Amino acid sequence: MSATADANPEVYRAPVGTHDVLPPESAAWQAAVARFADRARRFGYGLVVTPVFEHREVFQRVGASTDVVRKEMYEFTDKGGRALALRPEGTAPVVRAFVQHRPAVPWKVWYLAPHFRYERPQKGRYRQHWQLGAEVLGVDDPEADVEVIALAHGFYRDLGLGRVRLLVNSMGDAESRPAYLAALRAYLLDHAPALGDEFRERVEQNPLRVLDAKTPAWQAVLDGAPRLDQHLGPAARDHFAAVQAGLTALGIGFECAPRLVRGFDYYTSTTFEFVSDALDAAQNAIGGGGRYDRLAEDMGGPPTPSIGFGIGIERVLIALAAEGADAGSAAALPALDAFVVDAAGDGVATVVVGELREAGLAADRAYGGRSVKAQWKLADRSGARYAVMLGARAAERGVVGIKDLRAPDAEQSEVPRAELVAWLRRATAITPGPPTTDRPPGAIT
Ligand code: HAM
Repeated sequence: MSATADANPEVYRAPVGTHDVLPPESAAWQAAVARFADRARRFGYGLVVTPVFEHREVFQRVGASTDVVRKEMYEFTDKGGRALALRPEGTAPVVRAFVQHRPAVPWKVWYLAPHFRYERPQKGRYRQHWQLGAEVLGVDDPEADVEVIALAHGFYRDLGLGRVRLLVNSMGDAESRPAYLAALRAYLLDHAPALGDEFRERVEQNPLRVLDAKTPAWQAVLDGAPRLDQHLGPAARDHFAAVQAGLTALGIGFECAPRLVRGFDYYTSTTFEFVSDALDAAQNAIGGGGRYDRLAEDMGGPPTPSIGFGIGIERVLIALAAEGADAGSAAALPALDAFVVDAAGDGVATVVVGELREAGLAADRAYGGRSVKAQWKLADRSGARYAVMLGARAAERGVVGIKDLRAPDAEQSEVPRAELVAWLRRATAITPGPPTTDRPPGAIT
């Protein structure tokens, strides 16, 4: 029996909770990444690339009581006996790299990376997802908090997302947190007998982990819990007030969310989340982050107050689709400028396509000596703006044919071969430089 006949079709599918991103849908993915990269550059952030796996201890620093560490890590031992794990979140590796290399502060970096969590897969919740993130290490100024929030906020706006809300909170600092934790633990344990073992166990491990739980039976008790914002010491209160004032000065709308604690133990002080009202409540977080002022020290580095965020690309794209075509098209890449139809068959098509591409135009062609009719079909299907028709007789006169593929009734016209690049440049209005950041109508403010 041949190897092909043996093949198990289930194995040749992307594993549960993962997915392929193919063209043309990948254009929205690519546009989102390009816009983020451009925005990060304008804000003064450099790209950081860390390994997809780290020593397991690096990720254990995000918190023994977190779901990510308790249940969701993809852990393995390599052939050399090292205990490793695939990246479940992006902050710990960046801090590990900082502690290892000790770059000058402020260290402002951004990343695009796959993340792995063994979750129950559903729409918007995957076992591999991609994050765009940014981190600023070595600054405790609330201006840094405002800057990173503005970076994320502007990204959603660039994409044309309108139904996005920003939630902000403060987790307090080393002075104010212990008293709050004690009050919260006492209150929750008082109510634990009625709410069962899981509740009690989680409270005992870390009462903050319970505060933003979605379990319906717990809500009444959680609603009455002591509030973080009423237990802030003077320094934490001033910091949080300065962050709110900065956001207001930039015209960035926000809501205070006293129960927003987020899922990692490293958070201190400012936390924030962007939620999309176009998505189901269970997966409506399209990005989130906060301060982690002690994580670098926990990894053996110097005191390094820091803040950052991660944005889930898949969720952003789902939110764009849910908001409708306008938002989606704002995230699309420009289509081909020209499709070259070769009726001459003399090799000139190769030269023309090459010339157009080198001139910065997006151009494509058919292969394999297809008939002219088949080439026109491909030109139509390609989504190109213009077809450029190369014919032997036209070549003798030094011209090429041009057809506007978006105006099916328009006649074919002729352009001197020597002027083709200039003509197409004018017609497609190429503007060199980064993608446009014009604010689309209906975008968040
Ligand atoms: P996180 O909230 O766990 O934070 O993830 C950031 C974003 O990634 C979420 O808001 C969501 O959009 C997306 N996301 C998370 N899990 C999944 C999943 N299973 N499937 C699809 N999308 C998902 C962090 O990871 C922190 N490292 C963020 C941060 C950076 N805090 C400070 N700096």
